[in-house]
This record gives sequence, C-alpha cells and structure tokens, in this order.
Amino acid sequence: MRKKFIIGNWKMYGNKASVKELLTTLKFSMVNSSDKVSCIVCPPYIFLAEAQALLQDSQIALAAQNMAAEKEGAYTGEIAAAMLSEFGCKYVLLGHSERRTYYSETDALIAKKFQLATESGLVPILCIGETLEQYQSKQTQAVLQRQIEKILALGEAVLQKGILAYEPVWAIGTGISASPAQAQQTHQFLRQQVALHYPDLAQKLPILYGGSVKLDNAKALFEMPDIDGGLIGGASLRAHEFLQIYCDCVSITN
Ligand code: PGA
Repeated sequence: MRKKFIIGNWKMYGNKASVKELLTTLKFSMVNSSDKVSCIVCPPYIFLAEAQALLQDSQIALAAQNMAAEKEGAYTGEIAAAMLSEFGCKYVLLGHSERRTYYSETDALIAKKFQLATESGLVPILCIGETLEQYQSKQTQAVLQRQIEKILALGEAVLQKGILAYEPVWAIGTGISASPAQAQQTHQFLRQQVALHYPDLAQKLPILYGGSVKLDNAKALFEMPDIDGGLIGGASLRAHEFLQIYCDCVSITN
C-alpha cells in the first residue's frame, strides 16, 4: 500500500501567538498517529524555527511553502533548501498555483527547484492543476501533461523522491471541491501518464488531492483508490478540523 499524507498549507496566515496555539494543540491532541499516514504542516518561513522547537518529539513533520531555485548566493529575499533543512523541514511545496499565478513561476523553474530539493535531501511536493477556464474548455489533461513533462524528464531516480499534489485551481479556497469521482478520474490519468515512462514508480508515487478539502468531503475523497491523502489550506488552520481530517485518512488504512 502507498504511504498517505495529510499536509496543512498555512499560506500567509497567522502570527506568533496563533502559530504557537495551533502547533501546541496539534501536538497534544494528536492521539491516533499512524505510520501509514504522515502528518505535515507548512507554516510561513518566519515561523519555522519556532515550529521546529514546538514540534520536537511529535509525529508532525515540517514543510516549507517554497524554496529558492539556487543553492546560495546574492538572491535577496530568497530561502535556500539547506536553510530549510537546518530548521527541520523534511518537505517542500513546489509550484503551488498561487506561486505560478502571482509570482510567474514556470514549469522550467519549478523543475529546477524539484531537482535541487531532492539533491538537498528535501522531499518535493509538486502542485499541479488547471484553472476554471481550462477546466471548462476541457483542457485539464493537456494542462497537467504540460505541468509534469519537465518533472518526468528529470528521470525516475529524481521523481521517486517526490510527491504529486493535484489541486484544481477552481477548487482552491472556493469551497467547491472536485467530487471524489472527478478527482479519482484525474488522479488515475496522472498515474497513467507517469506509467508511460516509469510503470513501477507509477504504482508507488503518492498523489494527493487539494482544493477545499473539509471535514465533510475528506473521507470520500481519500477512499478513492488513486488518492493518497490531501493538501489542505483553509481547514488546516483549525486544529481540530485538521486532526479530524487526519483521523479520517488513518481510518481508511485500517
Ligand atoms: P484550500 O487550499 O484547502 O483552502 O482550498 C488548498 C491549497 O491551496 O493547497
């Protein structure tokens, strides 16, 4: 069975007090932790040091929301992979649609970061997904193919160190999630695309769903055979809801 992941993307929310409260609640309320489902949170960079300290001796792992495409150098405002590792990050989100849309991140840049993340010992979580317009004009598959092309070209040894997250842009933060059947169909398509190049890896690669995952739809989504957990935005800022979503995912593995 593939490993599953429940990942909370906090985006640019929170302050010192709320981060402390959220992490403390998560740490001490997490009773049903399972080695089949990893629980990961992605705080803003500036809170990583505190998160690392607060999550010591907990089952919850840390991820960053982004990283630089260069190892080090004169890149004002950027954060290097090695710095993230030093502050306890094991994972890094790459190519989130908000990075693609507001910061013009291209597939080529994201592929460069993906490679660098794996060389730096971080697990890259590649986010892909179509916009509403692309969805309505039936371009979903073509868009996804384009978004994974450069990642597939990095080779099996690199790709096997990463995770995919399908996040339809029209579902992010809108309250309108893809239906389980709809998401399953796209996840199956993605797995088939990977299988065209790397059949063995395609069966092992975790593919998460993101986009308005909430308590009322999480379980049905995670029950789908090609959905290996979720990348959760809004609901991850509410400790008890996030923990319940985690428990829903664990219940499927039992
Ligand atoms: P959402 O965000 O759960 O608030 O829709 C998901 C994401 O952006 O990763």
